[in-house]
Amino acid sequence: MKKDIHSLLLKKNRGEKIVSLTAYDYMTARLQEEAGVDFILVGDSIAMAVFGQKTTIGADLDVMIAHTKAVSRGAVNTLVVGDMPFGSYERSDSQAVKNAVRFLSEGGADAVKLEGGNNRSISRVRAIIDSGIPVMGHVGLLPQSIKQAGGYRVVYSNKRDELFEEAFALQQAGVFSIVFECIEEELAAELTGKLEVPTIGIGAGRFTDGQILVVNDMLGLSGDFEPRFVKKYVQLDSIILEALKKFSSEVRNGKFPSDSNVYHAREEK
Ligand code: KIV
Repeated sequence: MKKDIHSLLLKKNRGEKIVSLTAYDYMTARLQEEAGVDFILVGDSIAMAVFGQKTTIGADLDVMIAHTKAVSRGAVNTLVVGDMPFGSYERSDSQAVKNAVRFLSEGGADAVKLEGGNNRSISRVRAIIDSGIPVMGHVGLLPQSIKQAGGYRVVYSNKRDELFEEAFALQQAGVFSIVFECIEEELAAELTGKLEVPTIGIGAGRFTDGQILVVNDMLGLSGDFEPRFVKKYVQLDSIILEALKKFSSEVRNGKFPSDSNVYHAREEK
């Protein structure tokens, strides 16, 4: 049975942790579904993880929809959330609805996520939900607003009132879940206990209802990017590098292709 937005709420109510990761391609999505991930986010982190950009600000809507399509094909029974990139929902409610619709109708996503809980974001969230599309909120550190915030800043209790206000406004607007990014553990825990909707933490400590990581980070495929909240479960970059070096040397010394890798005339039918 396909996992949907209601399964996240059920998990929160049962006290079961929600597991999520980002994915940007078909095969990674397939593997994540096989591993039992509860939802997959096609994050705007694609700008950095896949396209080598310095921030998520350059994530392109058309590109994200194409990658959402690939992920949805790979994880047909998993909840897929498309992350609305910077510039795709700021202008107006109708712009936000139009682009959210594209994530579902072209990308095959089940829901969208957008950043922030200020009045403008709340208006966009309401408009998208009114059009029948489930929305995931995102509070705390907002990578699309780093120019305004003056960089990547963890949210501590001096920002408590603002954080609580935004999270409750999102819940009131109807989001099915909220991502908590880089928030002091104590604050994230308190807010998680007060909210009815599930909270999904990244750098927000141990007590959110679920956890999400950027898949490239946890697989060791993001170079020397090592923030405290990332745990590398494997160092894929060195495994891949080893294989690439081996291939190069086997081509150069004539070991590859070997007889088992070639077609011979006698095999023709
Ligand atoms: O794009 C992304 O990877 C995200 C995560 C921080 C949750 O939004």
